Amino acid sequence: MALFSKKPAVQTEVDFTRLPKHIAIIMDGNGRWAKKRGLPRTAGHAAGAETFRTIATYCKEIGIDYLTVYAFSTENWKRPEVEVSAIMGLLKKYLLEAIGQMERDRVKMEFFGDLSPLTSELRELCERTREISRHYEGCQVNICLNYGGRDELVRAARAFALDCVEGRTDPNHLSQEQFGGYLFSRGVPDPDLVIRPSGELRLSNFLLWQSAYAEFYFTDVLWPDFSKEELHRAIAAYQSRNRRFGGV
Ligand code: IPE
Ligand code: IPE
Ligand code: MG
Repeated sequence: MALFSKKPAVQTEVDFTRLPKHIAIIMDGNGRWAKKRGLPRTAGHAAGAETFRTIATYCKEIGIDYLTVYAFSTENWKRPEVEVSAIMGLLKKYLLEAIGQMERDRVKMEFFGDLSPLTSELRELCERTREISRHYEGCQVNICLNYGGRDELVRAARAFALDCVEGRTDPNHLSQEQFGGYLFSRGVPDPDLVIRPSGELRLSNFLLWQSAYAEFYFTDVLWPDFSKEELHRAIAAYQSRNRRFGGV
């Protein structure tokens, strides 16, 4: 019943007693959002960061257990230097603010991806964020940073092979569960719902292993314009699906 009392005053067909446990979002469309307004792409990234803040807080409020967001892919390094550094600058700003408000927001934060190419300052901020929020309960937010699904799988294969070579495990006994333990997402259930705004109909290397049985929701809305109402539409669509997992 507590959930209902928190229900927002927006029109919705969402059944708040049957929410997806894990929502994953490809936060796409920042550049086009800025272009439409005659602004530099970086302004789109700044607006996208605000949307992320709003949606993450709201997910915690309504009782979503896990939110995983794609913030920077292993392929995004191809972008012009000035855009990459602007994104990294926004990330730093976001993490500093998040750390400042942690006791209030109490959102557990994790990072999926290889953080080693980031500056030591950023890596330390990620580590601090993770450390401070480690014991928080409720929603866990996973930020995918320098993340790529293929990179994640190759890393897992490498780590598993090393465990075999060094005698810690036996290749003949590898199960899907055990393999999952080598991924960045270890311990986190698979996403139930994957949302991609901006009109693109592709995964772009996001959660390749984990989204095997995810439901997808695509919308033309650009990420900076993504709202609670749009999230409701995505959840309502998810709730209308018949998930069979290969059964009947
Ligand atoms: C997503 O928005 C943010 C990142 C990939 C870092 P884009 O920057 O890809 O925006 P579009 O797709 O060019 O509009
Ligand atoms: C995917 O968006 C990565 C993130 C949102 C962080 P992209 O904009 O990089 O994907 P493509 O290039 O359209 O496939
Ligand atoms: Mg894009």
